[in-house]
Amino acid sequence: MTKMILLNPGPANTTDTVKQAMTRPDICPREQEFGDVLAWVRDAVTRVVHEGDAYTSVLFGGSGTAAVEAAIASAVPQDGRLLVIDNGSYGARIAQIAAAYGIGHDVLKLGVGGRVDPNRVASALDAARYTQLAVIHHETSTGILNPVEELGPLCKARGVEMIVDAMSSYAGIPIDVEAMGVDFLMSSSNKCIQGMAGLGFVICRKSRLAAMEPVPGRSFYLSLAGQHRFFEQHHQMQFTPPVQVVYALQTALQEYFLEGGENRHARYVANWEVLDGGMRELGFRRLLSDGMLSRILTSYIEPDHPRYDFGRMHDMLYQKGFTIYPGKGADRATFRLANMGNVCSDDMNDFLRAMAETVEAMEMRPLYRDAQGGERAD
Ligand SMILES: Cc1ncc(COP(=O)(O)O)c(C=O)c1O
Repeated sequence: MTKMILLNPGPANTTDTVKQAMTRPDICPREQEFGDVLAWVRDAVTRVVHEGDAYTSVLFGGSGTAAVEAAIASAVPQDGRLLVIDNGSYGARIAQIAAAYGIGHDVLKLGVGGRVDPNRVASALDAARYTQLAVIHHETSTGILNPVEELGPLCKARGVEMIVDAMSSYAGIPIDVEAMGVDFLMSSSNKCIQGMAGLGFVICRKSRLAAMEPVPGRSFYLSLAGQHRFFEQHHQMQFTPPVQVVYALQTALQEYFLEGGENRHARYVANWEVLDGGMRELGFRRLLSDGMLSRILTSYIEPDHPRYDFGRMHDMLYQKGFTIYPGKGADRATFRLANMGNVCSDDMNDFLRAMAETVEAMEMRPLYRDAQGGERAD
């Protein structure tokens, strides 16, 4: 199989063994045998971010947004109020979900790529009687890593639950939900865990789930209480699961534990060092400064050379076997490169060679008209 190198922010490159895990004899997902696979996956998904027995996970057939929606719709009670931190498109999306359900909420708008200052969050939390705070861990729209571990104690001191969208950090950056004070953590099967798209999951405290009742007027399908209860009683998902995606995730999880969480993180950081070092050597400038970076995805400021054209650059790289991605929402025009998935430093070096050829072929030097770097200082 020809390997396309995906530098888009997921679905990410998978191993051949993960791809092969999808080719299996047909099975009815209501069989005990498949229920056992689901139970293993459910526990393993939890183990990625929790070593003890206090948390479990709830799986949904759907993309990552299904998991985000399930958490928001299920966690915020009818008389509750949600504070959403918005420093990028995915924070904004949580506010859209809350609005769609008529959930009382306020948005702490920090601007796309704006730094999350815990003191500002503390003041915002004190401004009303919030029951939940929602924050993105790795805001994939820019590549900023938000300081979730500093927000946990703020929430705990105020009796506020913390809901964390860890879509593009889960399994790529070590997370300990208990130590970080996370009450609900959402991710999906197709980013740093290196499985196939089709499953979203919410990791949460067992005690909270056991006591949870479906909130009237909210989603029927995306109900944490409903889905959890059904699995506990029947050893099955309530609605038809994406069977082959579950098998792929099982293999992806096995491979994650074989590699080890710290090693995976180290591989991604090594990928990033090669990729970002090479991009900067080629003259590209980042949107964000060093201290803000996830090192899993980077936004680069688009060249202002008249011959620059993202579509053309994308197509030329695609012909060479590399997928790059447009920017999202930042106040400056950007494009994004991710270094997650089953990729290594050699792949990054191959990409850099292709990028150098593309820059030359497009005759777009100098990339920027002004001589100075354009990274944001804050
Ligand atoms: C932080 C974050 N949240 C939510 C989503 C939405 O996930 P999906 O596109 O799988 O619904 C993404 C997707 O990239 C994401 O990066």
